[in-house]
Amino acid sequence: MVIFAFALWALFLNLIYKCLKKFRSNRLPGPSTISILRHATAKYSHLTLSKWAQTYGDIFQIKLGPIRIVVLSDGKLIQEVFDESEYVGRADKKNLQLARPYGMASQGAVPKEQRTFTVRYLSQPSMESFIQEEISEFLTWMSSHEGQMVEMNQRLTLAIVNTLWKILSGKRYPQDDDRILRVLDKENKLNESLSRNPLLLYPPLAELFPRITGWHDVITLAEDIRDDYEQIILECEIDDVKSEHPSFIVEYLREIENSSDPECDFYKDAGKNSLVTTLADLFNEGLTTIPVTLSWAVFYISKFIDVQLKLQEELDKVVPRNRRPCLADRSKLPLPYLEATIMETLRITSSVSTGAMHKTLADMKVRDYEIQTGTWIIANVYHVHHDPNAWQDPDIFLPERFINLESGSVNSTNFSTGEKTCLGETIAKDEIFLFLSNIYQTFNTVLDENESAGVTCHHKPEIVLQPSDFNVLLTRRT
Ligand code: HEM
Repeated sequence: MVIFAFALWALFLNLIYKCLKKFRSNRLPGPSTISILRHATAKYSHLTLSKWAQTYGDIFQIKLGPIRIVVLSDGKLIQEVFDESEYVGRADKKNLQLARPYGMASQGAVPKEQRTFTVRYLSQPSMESFIQEEISEFLTWMSSHEGQMVEMNQRLTLAIVNTLWKILSGKRYPQDDDRILRVLDKENKLNESLSRNPLLLYPPLAELFPRITGWHDVITLAEDIRDDYEQIILECEIDDVKSEHPSFIVEYLREIENSSDPECDFYKDAGKNSLVTTLADLFNEGLTTIPVTLSWAVFYISKFIDVQLKLQEELDKVVPRNRRPCLADRSKLPLPYLEATIMETLRITSSVSTGAMHKTLADMKVRDYEIQTGTWIIANVYHVHHDPNAWQDPDIFLPERFINLESGSVNSTNFSTGEKTCLGETIAKDEIFLFLSNIYQTFNTVLDENESAGVTCHHKPEIVLQPSDFNVLLTRRT
């Protein structure tokens, strides 16, 4: 009897041990609550995430009470996970959605018709003429500042804002137009208030404590911007529906007008609400990411003169000096060094350092770990591009690493993959290519000596990692 009781007890203990072992082995590793709280207000969250990835591996969790964020720090794993349609939920990023469940960045299933329409519109060859028009203005401004030290960052931002505005509304405004400057100012304030308090980068916390974290101010500002977009659409509706000028808004309004299927993304009021949100998404994303990437590229090209010379030598071989570079040069006559410089800029800066938050729409399993419905997922983009196991000297700017090398992985981590992949990838790459090739065909830029002394330019702690302001000496090429 004693032996039997003993055996039963041993069996019971063994069962408990196995259950505990299984439970522990299925628990994602991750930093302790104290460590999370210590780093919650850290200025540079991308560096903290990278440090944690080195300690806890390709997949770890940040768990704070009921809040659980799963962080993916390996390129292939990110692709694998984001390619599954169950991971396309959006964290409740009200800054993008402007507090309404519409538009492409909305939480639920992906509005496929809107995505297809937007990608198709933004990839049209006619977009090039809008970009080239703005580049002409930019080159004129550069010519008038020859021989001077200039701050390029703000000027590039204005040029990109104008291009986007023209593409979206069909109208070109003067660069000091009140309306554009006001919307730009509000969009900047929105991004600033999002980045001022890093706690806002953990949306669940922001929603739990809206006033302390400043979430309440963000929403108020976002609603205010939404009113501006509604007004702009109304004007386009009154003025432009019969206009011959193509524009995103006018084409979108036509889709709404032609839609008679209540299931369609463009149908009636839902279609109109989506247009406002989509406009805000496109403008907000476009005006931050393209100028930042361009500024970083100019910074590195002005700092490393050998890169600038190689790039100009390559341009001279492909494009005669008496005509301006265009997109056809890229496809017909490849410019591998320029493309490699753009890829290296995207890699080293990884400006959208954690992508946009995803949320699981069903219970899932990733590498034996159970991920429950509603879990937040982050792609640790900055770490993937700075992992010393994947890149030799990751902090050194070296376009050569992309010559004759498959650049697909950097591309897919920067712009993401799957159904929620970036909508502005084509237009972003076209603009960066056209601005850089046109600037360096005609001009040289040299970084201010004082700024050259530092190894890298510091990030401003923003949602999108930006360079600090810097000046370059502008001269015309001989
Ligand atoms: C260098 C430039 C850019 C980079 C690195 C970039 C990167 C990204 C990333 C990582 C995402 C998140 C994708 C995901 O959640 O899986 C995203 C989403 C998005 N991007 Fe971009 N982007 C850039 C330029 C642009 C531009 C120029 C536009 C618009 C004109 C744009 C519009 C959007 C929109 C609307 C989304 C949300 C898509 C959705 O939720 O379905 N992006 N982008």
